[in-house]
Amino acid sequence: MRFLKALGLLGSCVAAASKYDEPIRPQVHYSPPYGFMNDPNGMVYTNGLYHLFYQWNPNDTVAGTPQWGHATSEDLVHWNNHGVAIASATKDEGVFSGSAVLDVNNTSGFFDDSVKPNDRVVAIFTSNTPEKQTQDIAYSKDGGFNFTRYSENPVIDINSTQFRDPKVFFHEDTGKWVMVVAKSFDFEIAFYTSCDLKNWEEVSTFSGGLYGYQYEVPDLVKLRVEGTSEYKWVLFVSINPGMPLGGSGTQYFIGDFDGETFTPDDHAVRMADFGKDWYAAQTWSNTGDDVLGLAWASNWQYTGEVPTKQWRSCMSVARKMGLKKNVKYNPGYTGYSLTQEPLVDKKLRDESCHGKAPLSLESETGAFEFRINATQNDGVSDKSSVRIKVSNSTGHLTTLGLRPDFHFFIDRSDQFEHPLYNEKISVYAQPDNDEKPVYDIHGIVDRGLIEIFINNGTVAFTNTVFVADADKIQIEADDGYTVNGEIYSLKSTW
Ligand code: FRU
Repeated sequence: MRFLKALGLLGSCVAAASKYDEPIRPQVHYSPPYGFMNDPNGMVYTNGLYHLFYQWNPNDTVAGTPQWGHATSEDLVHWNNHGVAIASATKDEGVFSGSAVLDVNNTSGFFDDSVKPNDRVVAIFTSNTPEKQTQDIAYSKDGGFNFTRYSENPVIDINSTQFRDPKVFFHEDTGKWVMVVAKSFDFEIAFYTSCDLKNWEEVSTFSGGLYGYQYEVPDLVKLRVEGTSEYKWVLFVSINPGMPLGGSGTQYFIGDFDGETFTPDDHAVRMADFGKDWYAAQTWSNTGDDVLGLAWASNWQYTGEVPTKQWRSCMSVARKMGLKKNVKYNPGYTGYSLTQEPLVDKKLRDESCHGKAPLSLESETGAFEFRINATQNDGVSDKSSVRIKVSNSTGHLTTLGLRPDFHFFIDRSDQFEHPLYNEKISVYAQPDNDEKPVYDIHGIVDRGLIEIFINNGTVAFTNTVFVADADKIQIEADDGYTVNGEIYSLKSTW
């Protein structure tokens, strides 16, 4: 009874929803005030604000006909809600996923001199109707708050019901806008270019990796290889359903892009996140050389049934993306790997506890950050492990940990009964040094979501959890490991 009440399944919690204090509502992550949220959309930085639009059904806690909800942040952790930014034009139209760019030079012709360059925002999205999916645009003259749809929409119509999720960016070398967009049932990412965001020409397609049922929400970013002056391009392709773990997930490809064609370096499919709940990732435009992104922290397999009330789903924390060379995949192979660093402002840190494990900390917010170094000792036994326990006062818990077979795992049993909600999930993480394996493990634990970054973010592992009032974290190791590090409790950003 207490458990159900705590989860908001009993009694009224309308007022609670607006205060962001429900037991498993994340405290340092973005979640919608109410209703159902999925993909991040329209991410653009301007006038000192990170805009985050998102797929939103404000009328129910399950997916419906989505519109673009809107929030902004100065620091990527404190968010202000602004309601619906792009509403459905008809009752049948879903304003599906898409992106936004800053059209400083007024290439679109939507603006005149009275509109400051930093206020010239153009959103590109999919208009979904029972007849088809087309790419449409809307412009904002006030820096991304109010939008007017272009009167001559659609800007791309190929007479398809499976053509969506345009992500647009400006390609400096060719001086053109580039769009990556999914031809979902063809397992193709199409590349279009444009000079004015209105007239688009298809220039190439890419297909590869895991297919699953369909492709969705692509993104293409240019990343500097850490410690060098070399740049590579990374293409993100989400698939749903059909991930090996089940349901939704995001894969990426590393290669080059000449403004028209993406050429992968190899045939490898790499996973952007090895957890079950990180989908439809998108990066912010207009952030210079910094590539910052986040994803919807859920999975289409069960998102409409998770035990939250008034609201469903949160975003992951914003992550700074990088690319590293010579990352060890196994003792004989090194190669490029994406790196992800969680951008959780240090000013959120409250109490702390540091030193050699065992370490333990409690926090009323239920939000924590930890970073530990785990060194595997000589003579480690098969049964040895590092354990991270996140629990409430009744002992209900989530356990995470590291094993000598180089696996990191999460055990989220007895939290949410659903046949497709994997209770135990693991990821292989190769240590840099096989003789003396050492791991760097960085975690953001926030009530309903746990994000783990291993070895400077070369492995990311994001999973939802559903233990109400989990306010304690303990990090333990047996003789097999020496663990040092710190835990911080985090202040709520709401
Ligand atoms: C991915 C997705 C997109 C689509 C949107 C609809 O989660 O299915 O392909 O644009 O969600 O809400």
